This record gives sequence, C-alpha cells and structure tokens, in this order.
Amino acid sequence: MERAWKTIIEPFKIKVVEPLGFTTRAERERLLREAGWNLFKISADKVLIDLLTDSGTSAMSAEQWAALMRGDESYAGARSFFRFEKAVRDLTGLRHVLPMHQGRAAERILFRACGGPGKVFLSNSHFDTTRANIEASGAEAIDLPVPEALAFGIPAPFKGDVDLRALEARIRELGAAKVAMIVMTLTNNSLGGQPASLGNLRAAREISKHYGIPLFLDVARFAENSWLVKLREPGQATRPVADIARETFSYCDGCWMSSKKDAFVNIGGFLALNDDVLAKACRDEMILGEGFPTYGGLAGRDLEALAVGLDEALDEHYLRYRIRSVEYLGEGLLKAGVPIVEPPGGHAIYLDAKRLLPHIPPSGYPAVALACELYLTAGVRSVEIGSLMFGRRSADGSPEPAPMELVRLAIPRRAYTQSHVDFLIEVVADVAARAKEIRPLRVVEAPARLAHFTARLEPVPA
Ligand code: F0G
Repeated sequence: MERAWKTIIEPFKIKVVEPLGFTTRAERERLLREAGWNLFKISADKVLIDLLTDSGTSAMSAEQWAALMRGDESYAGARSFFRFEKAVRDLTGLRHVLPMHQGRAAERILFRACGGPGKVFLSNSHFDTTRANIEASGAEAIDLPVPEALAFGIPAPFKGDVDLRALEARIRELGAAKVAMIVMTLTNNSLGGQPASLGNLRAAREISKHYGIPLFLDVARFAENSWLVKLREPGQATRPVADIARETFSYCDGCWMSSKKDAFVNIGGFLALNDDVLAKACRDEMILGEGFPTYGGLAGRDLEALAVGLDEALDEHYLRYRIRSVEYLGEGLLKAGVPIVEPPGGHAIYLDAKRLLPHIPPSGYPAVALACELYLTAGVRSVEIGSLMFGRRSADGSPEPAPMELVRLAIPRRAYTQSHVDFLIEVVADVAARAKEIRPLRVVEAPARLAHFTARLEPVPA
C-alpha cells in the first residue's frame, strides 16, 4: 500500500506560464463602476484570480498540444473526426457522435429536434443554457432536485440526485407523451456541483424505460461525478473510475457534453445518441448552423485535443488531486466561518450569500454584491448563481427570486496551484469578516433572457 501523504500536490509540472493581472484598489473601483457591477464585463487582464468559470479555462496537457499538430483539417471525413468519434464511442457506448462547438450548440440542436410547445423536460436541475434552449424551443423545463439539495448547510453525499418520487409523479400527472426527456446534469452545476449516484441513475433509468421516455445526460463534468461516486457511494471505492464512468453512460439513450469542462479543451463539445431518426434530424439541423457533421463548428485539431482530454479526465492521480483541492478550499472557508454549500462539490465552492448577508434580500442581489466585493478586495472574479441568473417574472410582472443566492468559485482545471487556493481562503475570509458592510444592488438594465451576462447594476443608495 502506498503511503497517503497529507500535502496536496499538483500531479503535473508546469511548462508554460501566464502572468496574473495585478491592479490597485482604486482601479478596481473604477472598473467595476464602468462595468455596471457586472463581472462579465471586466477585462480578464484586470483579474488576479479568475474563478468566473471552469469552462474553457483549463490548461491543456503536453499530449493535447501535441495532438493539435495531428489535426486533419479536411472538410469532410477528416482523420481527426474518426479519432474523436472512437474516443466518444469507447467512453459512452453511444452510436451516433456529432461534434459541436460547445455544449449549448448541442442543446439547441437537440431541443429543436425533440422539444417544442407542449413538451416538458424533467431534470435534477437544468443548467441555465439548457433551460434557455428548452424554453426557446417553446417547451418547459422543470427541476426536480432531491429536497436535501436545497439545504445548503447540511452535507449529504448525493445532492445531485433527481427526486425519483417527484419525477414519477410529474410523469403521471403530465402523461408520458408530453415528457420529451429526462435530463440528468452531472454534476449538478446549478446547485453546488453535487454528484448524482449510480443508484439514482439506475432508478431514473427504470422510470424512463417504464414510461418510454428517453433519458439523456448532460455530462460536462462526468469524470468529477464518477470520482465522487467512487469516494461516496457504498461499494464503489475499489472500482476504477473509468468503469464507473462507463456504467454511468450505460443508463442513457444519449448525452451531450460541453467538453470545455472535464475534457480540458478551450472549445468543443459533442452530442451522442442511439436513436437513428433523432440523430438524422440533429445532423440536418447541425449542417444549417454548425457545420458538416464530421467537424461541427470545430477545427480538426480541436477534435484531436478533445479525444485526448476525454482520456486524461479519468486519470485517477489527477482526479484525486482535483477533488481534494476543491475540498481543501471548502474546509478552509468553513474553518473561517464562511457558509458554503456542503459538502464541497466537484468543480467549485459555492458561497451561500443568503446566510452570509442576511441583511440583503434577494431583490438586492446579495450574491452579485458578494462577488463584486471579492473583486474589489483582491481582484478575484467569481460568478453569481442566484436571482440575477435564475430570477423570473411572475404572470403579473413582479420579480420572483431564485431559490438560491450563491457565489460560485469555479476552479479552472490544472491552471492554478495550491498557493492560489491558500490565497483564496485568506481573501474570502477577509470579505466574510466585513459582510455586514456589503450593500445591496439594483438592476439598471437587463435583457429578457440570460440577463446575468449583460445586465448593468448599481449600488442602492444608503
Ligand atoms: N451544461 C452544463 C452543466 C454546463 O455547466 C454548461 C456550461 C453547459 C451545459 C453549456 O455548455 O458553455 O459549452 O455552451 N457551463 C459554463 C459554466 C458556462 O460556467 O458553468 P457551453
């Protein structure tokens, strides 16, 4: 047995480095004002540590960079496509593999083909682009997370599970013919990056078969989900993580992946499925907007890097470090008394702004205010997952808050080191100690859909 060391080490050494963006407090105050208190509008070179997203922000490996040179840029039937197709098939066991430039392209194409008015999608939780694309097709998206998923301060191993009882009840109430699809988002990004268990997937599969409803997986973070299954699900500890991943995929009729997450690529994704008719409809739609079905809006070299990344995502040395490092950040914040979603998820730590800033109601966007304070304090950029991202308008036009007010500290893969993590703990603890001074914000202007990307806000005058 190898000795288990306590110190977390990055399981790689670094060949290329990029400088961080240092700024002064005065500069950050000005930049934030000019950005309308929206961190999406700050230029990246004015950010010290960028935790806005773990999407497309990872460091590729030497093998991935080498694979780029193998890219075959033929318009149709490129070698790179077949290598990519084999990697996706070997992992997922699914027949039709359609490259996409990123996850939401797969969502748009798939939901155009099988969504539409009158259709309903049921999920452990739809991510924002998933929900927006379902709604854009005219269909409805309903989230059915397990109740413990919303009890942020109480740890439970599988908060990414779907509420099976609610799922079956909804199907009965709506009639199976109305339900276009059951969607399992792995991990559940909207509610803390929490995993779904194999037991839950198996049971959801039974329901899907019983009612004849397809089950699709949104697998942006399938490797992290599989590792958390290995750590947390009884009977899984000694299994190779790649086996757990393959079992995960065995329960679905199809999946889509934003490969910008677990596959480390800066751009890329795919849709994979078994249904011949649906696959044809998706390919036809894809040609209209993405490109020929053997490249799908990507260069041949991107397909090569993606194929390598799918394999590296399941490296156990990497996953052990990755998940432990995120957990260490969570532990450090809990020790400092900062309320977070517990337990720590796969790709991020989520600060609970509702508990940290009880003096700011959802209408004052507490999580946006907290994210802005982290930026002002130390140039750390994070993202709100709360009423700006998920708030809605009720029938009478009044704003309906989201069920959560979270700040996500998403950790790019292989890009930052443990000393950056220690620094983050220091910064967040400092901000949390001054939580009472943080002021509410109000929206000055915002579009109807996906408002968080472009909204302008301002502090509510005292
Ligand atoms: N599904 C999930 C679970 C996601 O987290 C994302 C993106 C998508 C689908 C859409 O993929 O960005 O490649 O089009 N999440 C990013 C994030 C944006 O920051 O969590 P995409």
